[in-house]
Amino acid sequence: MHKLSLSLFTAVAIGFLTPTAWAEEPIVIKFSHVVAPDTPKGRAADKFKELAEKYTNGKIKVEVYPNSQLYKDKEELEALQLGAVQMLAPSLAKFGPLGAKEFEVFDFPCLFPDYAGLHKITQGPIGQQLLDKLSSKGITGLAYWDNGFKIFSSNKPVLTVDDFKGQKMRIQSSKVLDAQMRALGAIPQVMAFSEVYQALQTGVVDGTENPPSNMYTQKMFEVQKYANLTNHGYLGYAVIVNKKFWDGLPADTRAALDKAMKEATDYANEVASKDNEDAVKAMEAAGKTEFHRPSTAEREALCQAMEPVYDSMGSRVGKDLLVSIRKTAAAK
Ligand code: LMR
Repeated sequence: MHKLSLSLFTAVAIGFLTPTAWAEEPIVIKFSHVVAPDTPKGRAADKFKELAEKYTNGKIKVEVYPNSQLYKDKEELEALQLGAVQMLAPSLAKFGPLGAKEFEVFDFPCLFPDYAGLHKITQGPIGQQLLDKLSSKGITGLAYWDNGFKIFSSNKPVLTVDDFKGQKMRIQSSKVLDAQMRALGAIPQVMAFSEVYQALQTGVVDGTENPPSNMYTQKMFEVQKYANLTNHGYLGYAVIVNKKFWDGLPADTRAALDKAMKEATDYANEVASKDNEDAVKAMEAAGKTEFHRPSTAEREALCQAMEPVYDSMGSRVGKDLLVSIRKTAAAK
């Protein structure tokens, strides 16, 4: 008893003398991503940091590492599983290596008519069911963040189906995107995002597809002569955390982080379309790339050429899932 009160006394005395010794060290969330800070994902990650630190009164510290500073595409997924980083927001086209190939359903060409059709999926039950599937991989899916709709760019024209024949096109690591490029007669090449600028500059590949915000912030427009504003496919993200880490957080901290994530998600989805519109304007003003706005018929011809992907790749993501997403997204 005496011993106990003495040690209590000592502890209080030390605490009184050096109050910082009592301050808890914050729990650090390392959030790694591959794009620039001034993109929809970059802004949303920074917003999450701000809100997470605020709502947990500093109990959580979020360190954001943009621009593949810490890890490239494939490495960041491995790092998450190993616990070297805690949070990521990879593009939905990059979930194959995690064994979650259903996420490639978002890569099907001409699937979503617009953001409204897309949000019926990402903000509805189908999107949630997909996120839930990640838990068996040791990952918790927290939210979907938009980037936007992709456009084609190249150093050769990309207006008609014939234009694509034999062109080397960089893609993300998705089998659906591989099939899409092959359907156009192009030669797909998987490459990490951080390597694309140089590959375009040196002619390792002729072209690629991206939402304008990525094309602009990675300066790809400096090394692409042509672009076609086709909006033929979607590129967005799932925010994911290491499940063990997430489940190990105190419940009130997790609740505060959920609130921060919800608000960061609303923010991400608000800024995305404007970021992409602004990027097109900025690239047109730069005058290095010739931008084409396809007519409905021109876009439809490209969509038709890519339609066989639905047959050949449907079973990869699940035919029922694909059909139900297509129907839900198109319904008025
Ligand atoms: C890409 O590799 O093209 C994109 O996934 C990059 C990104 O995260 O937006």
